Amino acid sequence: MPANNSVAWKNLKSHAYSMSKTHISSLFTDEPERFSNFTFSQNNLLLDLSKQRINKESLTLLIQLAEERSLCEWIKNLFNGAHVNDSEDRPALHTALRSPANSSLSINGKNIIEDVHNNLARMESMVNRVHSGQWRGFTGHPIDTVVNIGVGGSDLGPLMACKALSENQTDTAQNIKIHFVSSMDGSQLAELLNSLNPARTLFVISSKSFTTIDTLANAQTAKKWLKKSSSTASEETLVSRHFIGVSANPDKAKEWGIPKSNQLEFWDWTGGRYSMWSAIGLPIAMQLGMKGFREFLSGAHSMDEHFRTAPLAENLPVLLAMVGIWNINFLHINAHAILPYDGRLSPLPAYLEQLEMESNGKSVDRQGNAINYKTCPILWGEVGTNAQHAFYQLLHQGTEAVMCDFIVAARRYHDTDNPELQHQHQLNLANCLAQSRILSLGDSVLEGAADAPAFKRYKGNQPCTTIMLDELNPFSFGQLIAMYEHKVFVQSVIWNINPFDQWGVELGKTVATSLLSALSPEKAQPTFDSSTNGLLNRIAERGA
Ligand code: F6P
Repeated sequence: MPANNSVAWKNLKSHAYSMSKTHISSLFTDEPERFSNFTFSQNNLLLDLSKQRINKESLTLLIQLAEERSLCEWIKNLFNGAHVNDSEDRPALHTALRSPANSSLSINGKNIIEDVHNNLARMESMVNRVHSGQWRGFTGHPIDTVVNIGVGGSDLGPLMACKALSENQTDTAQNIKIHFVSSMDGSQLAELLNSLNPARTLFVISSKSFTTIDTLANAQTAKKWLKKSSSTASEETLVSRHFIGVSANPDKAKEWGIPKSNQLEFWDWTGGRYSMWSAIGLPIAMQLGMKGFREFLSGAHSMDEHFRTAPLAENLPVLLAMVGIWNINFLHINAHAILPYDGRLSPLPAYLEQLEMESNGKSVDRQGNAINYKTCPILWGEVGTNAQHAFYQLLHQGTEAVMCDFIVAARRYHDTDNPELQHQHQLNLANCLAQSRILSLGDSVLEGAADAPAFKRYKGNQPCTTIMLDELNPFSFGQLIAMYEHKVFVQSVIWNINPFDQWGVELGKTVATSLLSALSPEKAQPTFDSSTNGLLNRIAERGA
C-alpha cells in the first residue's frame, strides 16, 4: 500500500490543516511547559523539538504513522542483517561496525563481529606503528603526514570527524598532520604536494569499490610524485612504505599495487556513506589514537542501543525523523538548513548532504512504483554564526519555508584558563539561542516589534530543532552522527524507499567515460546534443 494511503497519513493530513494556521509563538503561549514536554535525551545529548510546529496530537499521530509503517519490524531487520538494501540484495550493517567485541551476529554462517574486531586490531597495529615512528618511509625516516585520498563516503566522514575532534588529538599523534584530498581535477592534491616531504608522507587510498575514477586519478598522481622523488627505490618499495589501501575490494587494491599487508578491508554490507566506523575511519584513528576511536564507536553504539530498544515515542532518531516527515509531507516544507554553532562542525552540512540526499533522494518506492509524495528535502548549511552574515536573510524574511537544525555544545573551553575564548563561547551560545528563537517565534514576542515597518518585521514560524551536546567529544560525536543515520533510515521506512543504494549517481559516470574519448586528440566530430557538441568544439579550439 502506498505510504500516503494509510489511515494515520490521512489523519495527519487533516490535523495539518488546522496546524498550518498555527504560529509557533502561540504554541508557546498556550503551553508554558512546552520545553519539558518536547525535549528528549539520550545520555548527554538533548533533542529539543519544542520550537517545531507540533503539539501532543501531532506527535501521537506521527507515532501512529510509524507503527502503521511497521517501523519496529524494520528496525529489527536493520540490526539483524536482513537484506534491507533490496536493489543490491544485501544487509546494511553499519551498526555491526560499532558493536562490542563480546556481541555476535552471524551473516552467512560467519560471526561478522569477530571480523570487525580483528580488523580493528589490524588498524590499531598500523596506527601504533605510525605513531611510534616504526613505520618508516623509503629513506628510513618516520611518517609525519598522512594524506587520505577518497571521495564521498570515503572522504566526508573521516574529514568531518578529524575536524570535529581536532581538540581530542592523542599525544602520540602530536607530530602527525592529516590532510584530505578528494577533488577529481587534482587541484587539492597539486597544492598539497608542493608542501610535503615524500620521504615522510603516507597516503591512505580509501575507496570501497577501488574503481572510483576521482580517487584512482589522485592516487596515480601521488604515486608518480613519489616515484619522482627517488631514483633508487623500486615502485614496490615506494608503494609498500607510503601507501595503505582501505577497500571492500581487496583484489582491485592489489591490482593497483597495494600489497595485502598494507590493506585494511571492510565489507559490502557497509554502505559508502555509512563507512567511517570501518577502516575508512583510519585517519580518525590516526588522530585520536585507537582509544579515542573506540570511544567514538561506543558513542554510536549507545545511540544504536537506544534506537533499537527505546519506545518509539521516546526514541530520538524516530522523533527527529517523524518531525521531518511532518514538515515535509504535511506542512510542505522542502528545504532543510543544517546550522552547527561550532566551528569544529563546519563539515557537518556537507556530510549530511550526502547522508540524507544520497540515501533518500529517491522517487521510486521499494516495489518500483513512482512515488506521489515528497521524499528527501534539499539540505544545505554552514556554521551558524557565519551563515547569519550570509543566507539568514532568506530564513528570516524570504518566501521559502525552511526547517532548521541548530547543533551546539553547552560546554567549551571550560577547562582552559582562557577567558577570551570562554567569552567567545558565550557569544556563540547567545547567537544560537537568539536565532532559533526569532526564526521560530518571530518578532511579535519582542516588545514594540509590531510598530516597525514591514521591511523590518520577522514573521518567524520556521520550525527549529536544537540538538545540544554537553560537550563535543568522541563519544557524543558518535551519538550525534548515529542519530542522523537512523533518522534517515526511519524516513526511508515511512516513504517506502531503499536508503542504501544510489543508482542515480551511476549514469553520469558512464556518460563521462564516453565524453572522455570525445576529448582525445584523435576524436571524431562529436555527435551528442548541440550544447555538448558546441562545448566540445569550444574546448577543441580554446582548450589546448
Ligand atoms: O558515486 C557515489 C559513490 O559511490 C558514493 O556512494 C561513495 O561514497 C563514493 O562514490 C565513493 O565510492 P568509493 O568508496 O567506492 O570510492
